[in-house]
Amino acid sequence: MAESKYTSVKPVIDASKKQVYIETYGCQMNVNDSEVVLSILQQAGYSLCNDISKADVILVNTCSIRDNAEQRVLGRLDVFRLEKKKRKIIVGILGCMAERLKDELLKHPVIDIVAGPDAYRDLPKLIVAASADSKQINTILSHEETYADIAPVRMDSNGVTAFISIMRGCNNVCSYCIVPYVRGAERSRDPKSIIAEAKTLIDNNYKEISLLGQNVDSYNWKGENGETVSFAQLLEMVAQLDPTVRVRFSTSYPNDIKDEVLYTMARYENICKHIHFPVQSGSDAMLIKMRRKYTRAGYLERISKIREVIPDCGITTDVIAGFCGETPEDHADTISLFKEVRYDGAFMFQYSLRPNTLAARHYEDDVPNEVKTARLNEIIALQNQISLERNQECIGKVFKVLIEGASKRSETELVGRTSSNKACVFPAGGHKAGEYVNVKVISCSSATLICELV
Ligand code: SAH
Ligand code: SF4
Ligand code: F3S
Repeated sequence: MAESKYTSVKPVIDASKKQVYIETYGCQMNVNDSEVVLSILQQAGYSLCNDISKADVILVNTCSIRDNAEQRVLGRLDVFRLEKKKRKIIVGILGCMAERLKDELLKHPVIDIVAGPDAYRDLPKLIVAASADSKQINTILSHEETYADIAPVRMDSNGVTAFISIMRGCNNVCSYCIVPYVRGAERSRDPKSIIAEAKTLIDNNYKEISLLGQNVDSYNWKGENGETVSFAQLLEMVAQLDPTVRVRFSTSYPNDIKDEVLYTMARYENICKHIHFPVQSGSDAMLIKMRRKYTRAGYLERISKIREVIPDCGITTDVIAGFCGETPEDHADTISLFKEVRYDGAFMFQYSLRPNTLAARHYEDDVPNEVKTARLNEIIALQNQISLERNQECIGKVFKVLIEGASKRSETELVGRTSSNKACVFPAGGHKAGEYVNVKVISCSSATLICELV
């Protein structure tokens, strides 16, 4: 990336240029993709605008992971319709919904452009062509595209933490999941471009870098001369850049996480001690139907290994309630697994059928909606209690936190994170974003540690 012509990290706001407004839904990888999109458009002469009423181009980077994610975007189209009545603008749907629904979206009167996740280099051309009242679509998926040479322009950034996508796509076939269909095959990005991007962030005073992939443990770069770089090696390379810059990563696929990754984490103080470890279900019968490649016992073995190598590691998870054929016993297995692991936090969902996935084709979505919701609520209530207890265990302890900015509630309070990814709120005391401070926990909720400076 040294040879990249894209250099600015912050948006260059210029009212004399065509104005582009970008809205982003979905995961961190989508947030990072929007930063790539802005980089491409800035290079093509557009300027970012945060006021939708001034936009010449409105782009929505979408998510298809669950039906409600798609419904939210479809609801936004009514707002864009109103803008379109007032003046001539271009509306483009990007990302996973664009890839899933393709020309079906073009039928919508408000939508001018449909561009899938691997089509962003084409956006300047698509926008020009769409301006001549001809609808444009590019949903071709690529086996190579990683946008390696494009330095993302960090919008909505706190100036302290940033994401770097180290790979794209996914080669797993979890039966419920739409991601492989909308993101395509897995490909690893050239480590040289990842290191160059990390260095640019460090030069711009960023203090925390999160390496992103759907399954980071399968990162595997093969160079032209046969040399390979594994995820553990990449993690170490990034950690060695600057000991004062933290490194995080996500997501780890339970039985792909290598001991070498755990040992690397333990060796470097600046690799954060947190693993997001999505279990999806505590029942072996469900795990088989979900086509996850581990058993409950295998998963618990990995949890033990994590805790053995990194005793203070924060562990969080994702879980799905009410998957096809889930019995009360299967659900009870999830509950008992949550009690056994005692996660620091969890993202909890009820199953949402995604058209054309393996589950949609082979299994009946037969758990009634009320049952799904009741099971989900039971998991949420349990996890909230566990999160609270885990946080209470921190009271009286001192943590080193990286300050991310002012707390939502008060300008005189700051918010930062522990290495284990717990949010801490504490009095500013003259400190500011980007600094490390030691704080002592004095009380907590299930979501936040309330602290004082030490
Ligand atoms: N690559 C990550 C997950 C990415 S999607 C992994 O393998 O863990 C984020 C989360 O959304 C998943 O972990 C899963 O819990 C949830 N999810 C995915 N598809 C879903 C569906 N059809 N219904 C409900 N939740 C789903
Ligand atoms: Fe989806 Fe499974 Fe890939 Fe995660 S690993 S993105 S859940 S297919
Ligand atoms: Fe991410 Fe949603 Fe796509 S979770 S990969 S934006 S389907």
